[in-house]
Amino acid sequence: MKRQQIVAGNWKMNKDLAEGKDLAKAVAAQKSASDVVLILGTPFIHLSAVSEIIDGTDNLHLSAQNCHQEESGAYTGEISASMLKSVGAEYVILGHSERREYFGEDEALLAKKVDIALAHGLIPIFCCGEKLDVREAENHVALVKEQLSGSVFHLSADAFGKIVIAYEPVWAIGTGRTASPEQAQEMHAAIREMISEQYGAEVAEATSILYGGSCKPGNAKEIFSQPDVDGGLIGGASLKAEDFVAIANSF
Ligand code: G3P
Repeated sequence: MKRQQIVAGNWKMNKDLAEGKDLAKAVAAQKSASDVVLILGTPFIHLSAVSEIIDGTDNLHLSAQNCHQEESGAYTGEISASMLKSVGAEYVILGHSERREYFGEDEALLAKKVDIALAHGLIPIFCCGEKLDVREAENHVALVKEQLSGSVFHLSADAFGKIVIAYEPVWAIGTGRTASPEQAQEMHAAIREMISEQYGAEVAEATSILYGGSCKPGNAKEIFSQPDVDGGLIGGASLKAEDFVAIANSF
């Protein structure tokens, strides 16, 4: 079966409201109709406006970049899964290395975030990936297995079948040092094998696994041509409509 190909942009902490609306409008205007799912992962302030801008487009979708693990309550400054759903988010990026690093998000906390996101009908884009020292020690596959086992392998097969996995080697994020297509393929195949061991081959074959880490218009085609790469999670290059659309057209 053909897996869903996805190109998701992660704007991170960039663009004020007017700039974000302009970027969303530019992507909507420049993208080509295809069966590739395009996702705009915006800061919270843009969700409502961008939801309106992309409404009715055939393959543009909206993601948040985080959600709180509780239903509601006294968590000043936080945003809940139900709030995200109410402003039109369909996806939520969880487990990004920057949130693990700067906000201490560990496997147990991320498992709660995955659960509440699914409970509210959001699709988690669950991030995993190793730091450079782990790769140099050749422990990268073991680490990613720990991340998946601790945060998503508790799910039922049905629930797991709803999520998207993003492999983002930390040493490639924002560095311009992209993983080689062979390095990406090695880890994506290992992740697919982990999923197969946990849930069986059918679920593994159906899971979209995205690559993230300095993916650019100049390298996307070769990375996306790898058999176990189903698209990308794009940071810097998602901040320019022409670059994001060029990557989306790289299959
Ligand atoms: O979530 C995607 C991001 O971490 C990748 O960033 O700038 O290396 O494409 P970048």
